[in-house]
Order: sequence, then structure tokens, then C-alpha cells
Amino acid sequence: MCGIVGFTGSANAVPKIVKGLKVLEYRGYDSVGLAAQLNGEIKTLKCKGRVDALRDKLEQEHFPATDCAIGHTRWATHGGPSDINAHPHSTDTLALVHNGIIENYRELKAQLLEKGVKFVSETDSEVAAWVITEEYKAQKDPIKAIYSSLKKLSGSYAFEILFKDRPGEIFAVRQGSPLILATGVDGGYIASDMTALLPFTDTFCFLREGALAHVTKDSVQIVKEDGTLEEPVWQKTDMTVEAAEKCGYPHFMLKEIHEQPNAFLKTVSPRIKNGLPDFSGDGVSDDLLRRAKKIYIVACGSAMHAGLCGKYLIEHWAKIPVTVEIASEFRYNDPLIDSDTLMIIVSQSGETADSLAALRYGKEHGAFTMGIINVVGSSIAREADATLYTYAGPEIAVATTKGYCVQVAAFMLIAAKLSALCGTLSENEVRTLCSELCRDVPKAIEETFSLHDEIKEIAKKLYQSENLFYIGRGIDYALGVEGSLKLKEISYIHSEAYAAGELKHGTISLITEGTPVIAVATSARLYDKTVSNIRECSSRGANVLFICYNDAHQPENVADTVLRLPKVGRHAEMLAAMTAMQLIAYEVAVLRGCDIDRPRNLAKSVTVE
Ligand code: M6R
Repeated sequence: MCGIVGFTGSANAVPKIVKGLKVLEYRGYDSVGLAAQLNGEIKTLKCKGRVDALRDKLEQEHFPATDCAIGHTRWATHGGPSDINAHPHSTDTLALVHNGIIENYRELKAQLLEKGVKFVSETDSEVAAWVITEEYKAQKDPIKAIYSSLKKLSGSYAFEILFKDRPGEIFAVRQGSPLILATGVDGGYIASDMTALLPFTDTFCFLREGALAHVTKDSVQIVKEDGTLEEPVWQKTDMTVEAAEKCGYPHFMLKEIHEQPNAFLKTVSPRIKNGLPDFSGDGVSDDLLRRAKKIYIVACGSAMHAGLCGKYLIEHWAKIPVTVEIASEFRYNDPLIDSDTLMIIVSQSGETADSLAALRYGKEHGAFTMGIINVVGSSIAREADATLYTYAGPEIAVATTKGYCVQVAAFMLIAAKLSALCGTLSENEVRTLCSELCRDVPKAIEETFSLHDEIKEIAKKLYQSENLFYIGRGIDYALGVEGSLKLKEISYIHSEAYAAGELKHGTISLITEGTPVIAVATSARLYDKTVSNIRECSSRGANVLFICYNDAHQPENVADTVLRLPKVGRHAEMLAAMTAMQLIAYEVAVLRGCDIDRPRNLAKSVTVE
């Protein structure tokens, strides 16, 4: 949700800002801009559109070199996408970029209007710029001005600020939105995401909630409200620039689909010790898990869909009741939390505002909170009582694929661990399960890639559809919900996922001649029941694609098209089926000419509620 990046040092800041923004584009891409310190002035350039549009403008205008600049790529909240609403926002004193939302901007704007301030944009961010300006004029000290402004602002923010009369200095502060500090050979950096800085350095510091950073070409400091300094905690990353590049794939999404076998293994294998799941390295003791009498899984979007698989796996293997909640609803549903409640918050980015708010609510009410998080050092990871990191590496495509895969992987491990602790599976059964997971799942996903040509043909039959249904039972329903979201978000085809047996309670009225239906059956357990539901659809004219496990009995007799999953092993079919659905969504979106990695209206990390 908006990407921000700043640099000050001995090199030209402009190409660095453009490069950083290009990497950050997945966080928001409706408008873009930068502000640079130039001879005691701040020069700003911004426009509607993407980073390439800014790059063109910079060239056309022969934008001069500068040693200090900040940049922003936007996902619109207050005020539509336009040149005027693009960041940075400037006053007579400063320029500011903002990621987040200022909730009380209306009252603040009214007060400022009364004082005669003239606003040019419709954004909440411009209001913040003026609040800080007024404080700066009164206090003449940037750090005091920023801290006292924060007392007036409510909401979430990460700001980077240039003051006209403080050349070569960037001030930044965060509350609820991430900021990462970095040092390189040529100066200091600050960005909303580590990936933006990987081309320049491998040494980072996650700015803590509420902290203020002062970055100059010689130093990167964290300054407390009383003016004293806090020692930054520097960390080296082994993440490479290639991890944030396409490496020959036409889209990040396809690259990330192909990274799934490795990501799965990296997430699961280090947590299997002596053949059994072991979370001691994650700070999750067996005693803590044993206490869980009830589990809430709370997340948004695909992460919540991974949670639906988690519910199925935990209830099936460990027999502990699990409730899956949409994070934005959680706090308002009066959840029944006590000290025996384990709350699992699932988030690729670790920054999703609704999930973070739900986590805080759970903690306040006494739950033991555990994150399943991909981004190291992110807000949820830092605030949860414990975190199981998923090791997918940076996920750039807005539509998650490998991020979802490793979340399901984490749930497989958690379910196996809980069943060992609860004794619902014997130690030997858990050992077998763990070795099967490591051996079979990556192989199953890998072998699904060999169905890609078949999937391209399937996509040709689907891409002109206006509506489409996914059906399945049990875990296949959970998979269908995610398959449907993948298709919707990148191809813009309307689709719905239904529990296969539920369709006849109303929605079947939408099935007419030629309506495409994707049915999923990954195991024998519910196969016959699903087949009956397929027949209900085909007899009303539906055109059915049946994604089924390899040994399924005569699926050709029930569906128009059959995609048999590779024959690998139990528990491996679900992620093979998901890979097939990801590839279907991808190929359909390719045929429709969609912007696959940056679908309209979306952003990768949703840091507003
Ligand atoms: O970063 P998170 O996992 O918390 O994000 C949650 C959702 O916003 C995310 O999964 C979203 O649904 C994806 N774009 C789906 O592909």
C-alpha cells in the first residue's frame, strides 16, 4: 500500500529513487513522484501513472542531479489517482511522502483552512504536511516539530520528509506502516520495503513503531523524543537482487509459481528434527501448543484461504476445534478468547492492517498469538508472541502464489505437530507424515508444471467467459475459494467458489448452457459425492473442467475436460491442484491481455483498514 524510498549521500539520488520505486511498484501503482533537494529549494516532479511515466518526465525535463531525494508510488485512498493527488506533497517549508491513512484529517484540515492554509490536493497526506509545517514554524526544530505533530495525527503512517532549510537530510517516522533504514557505501537509505534497497546494500535496520529516523550522507540515526539517540539494530540479509527480479520469466507471478517446490521445502524441512516437527527454533514450546483448546485463524484474502486449509488439516489430524475469521471482521464478532486460545495470524507481508489490528485485539484479550509470516521483521512478526517464518523469499506479484503455498506448508506442520502432542496420531504416523510431506509435495508441484501445455488449451476454452464457478467438497472447497480469487484478481472474470453440495440451494439457477464450472476432487474420500454434484451442473448445460486425483475412477464420463493431477502421494494433491488453478488463472489472464503482476485497483500489501 504505497511504496516510499529516500536516499541522501554522495551519489545522484534520482536514479536510485527511480530504481527503488520500480521495485516497490507492486505496493501501489496509480501515481508516482519524487522530491529533491536542490540549492536550498525542493524540486518536485509527479504524475498519474507508473514509474515509467515518471522516468519519461524526468528525462523530458532534464531533471538535475541531486544528492538527496524522496519518492513515492501510490495506491489511492483519500483522493483519486491524479497528478495533483500524487505524492510528494509540498508546503512552503517541506515536502513529504506518506504511506498510510490519517484518520482525523478532516478536523485538522478544517482548522488549517481557518488559519488560511490553501490545499491543492484532496489527500489526507497534504494535511499531515501542513500540520508538520505549522509545528516547524513554531518550534524551528524538525525533530521536535515532527514529534509534536504526531500527537495531533491519528491513524497509520510512514512519512519521509525533506525540509527546505535542511539540505541533505531526510527525516522519517512510522506508526503502523513499515520503514527500513539502510546504509551503503555512498550514503543512507530509507524505504518502505527491503526489496527496494537490495540493489544498493545488504545491511538494514527495521525502524520500530513510533520511532523517528534522521538520515544524512554520513549517518543514519534514530532519535527519541527527548533528543537522545537509540542504537539502530543492523542486520545483514542474504536476500539477493535476483530474488526481486523476473530472471527470464515473462511475469513475476509465473516465476513465483515455479518457486513453490523450493519455498515449500525451505519452510518445512528445517522444522523437522529427528523426523518430527519441531518449533523450538521459532520460540514455540510444546507446552504452549499443548495449552491450545481452541484455535482462531485470522487473516485476509489468500492468507485467510490458506487458513481454511489449516482448519481442515488441524481438525482432521489433531481434532482441535478451529475457527477461521476474516481479520477485518474479527474484532467486531465478539470472539470468545481466553488463555487457552491459540490465535494464528497469517500474513505474507506481515503488515496487513486488519490482521495487525486483530492480533492486537487477541493479545489484549489474553490469547497466545502466533504469526505465520513471510516478511522478516514486519509488524505482525514483531508483535506476535511467536512467529513461524515462511521462507518464500520476496513475493512481488500482487496475486500471491508461493506466499499461499508456504502458508499451507506451515499449517501442515502445525497440524502434524498438534496431532503428535494431542496423541491423535502416533509418533510413527507423524514421522511418516513428515517424511511424505518433504518427499511428495515439492515433487507433486513440480510434476504439475508438466501439465502447463494442457492448461494453456484449457485457458483457451475459458478466457472469454463472463462468469465461472469453482466447486469442491471439504478441503477441495477451500482450494476452490483460492482458485476463484486468483482468477478474479488477475483476469477480471467474475467467479465464485461453492461447496459442491451447496450449489443446489440457490446458485444452481445461474448454471445455464455453457456455464463453465471447475470442479476439484483431490482424494477418493469425497469423490463420488463431488461427481454427483458435477452431474447436477452438467445436466443443466454446464461445461465442466474436472481437476482430479490421478487414480480417480472414470472422470472422463462426468466432465467435458479432465485434468488428472500427477500421481505422487497422499497430502500432495492439494498443492498440486492449487498449482494447476494458479496456472489456469495465469494463462486466462495472459489471453485476456491483463496486467498480470499489477492487477487494477489492487496493491500488494494492504496497510489500511
Ligand atoms: O500480506 P497478507 O498475506 O496479509 O495479504 C493478505 C491479502 O491481502 C492477500 O492475500 C491478497 O488477498 C492477495 N492479493 C491475493 O492474491
